[in-house]
Amino acid sequence: MNKKLQWRPGNMLYPLPAVLVSCGANENEYNIMTASWTGTICSDPAMCYVSIRKERHSYELIKNSMEFVINLSTEELAYATDWCGVKSGRDFNKFNEMKLTPQQGEKVSAPIILESPVNIECCVTQIMPLGSHDMFIAEVVNVQVSDNYLDEKTGAFDLGKAKLLAYSHGQYYKIGEQIGKFGWSVQKKK
Ligand SMILES: Cc1cc2nc3c(=O)[nH]c(=O)nc-3n(C[C@H](O)[C@H](O)[C@H](O)COP(=O)(O)O)c2cc1C
Repeated sequence: MNKKLQWRPGNMLYPLPAVLVSCGANENEYNIMTASWTGTICSDPAMCYVSIRKERHSYELIKNSMEFVINLSTEELAYATDWCGVKSGRDFNKFNEMKLTPQQGEKVSAPIILESPVNIECCVTQIMPLGSHDMFIAEVVNVQVSDNYLDEKTGAFDLGKAKLLAYSHGQYYKIGEQIGKFGWSVQKKK
């Protein structure tokens, strides 16, 4: 049985990341919002986007400073990721509430989240109105990674250890079992 059902047009491209986007030009403004409408759009220069609804508190903050940080989320950060996605920075200091540590970015005034394994500092180059969301297209200006994910023997950055968070059709998953690596399908068997 594999009969196709026709659904109205909607967002069914899954899995997506669920990341913590931190923003704010100074400590009083520091905020975090969860985003899944986010992704990589160019390798060189390294570029990302986040699509944000105008109603979000973060929308104004990012529009004013033209900077944000994408912090990858993990199994450990899953609770905070959901919470920061249902509460607004208008009502809460999300760093305090979730006991997360802000640290000013190296290249941007927005804070990184210390507890996240990868912090991608971004400068907005273009805001594209699309409809429900505006797409904030940004250039990556710096990347910070936590050294506790470095393999002790090889020194390689082992992101598998972080159990990164994925979002699929309303559910959160941690990335677990590795089943291949880039190019393995065409590699010669030894
Ligand atoms: C898993 C998840 C993904 C989300 N993705 C987005 C997104 O990509 N864009 C957006 O505008 N809101 C998204 N949201 C909703 C915002 O995170 C939410 O409205 C949040 O309260 C905004 O915070 P702020 O008002 O402090 O900016 C998402 C929420 C969750 C739980």
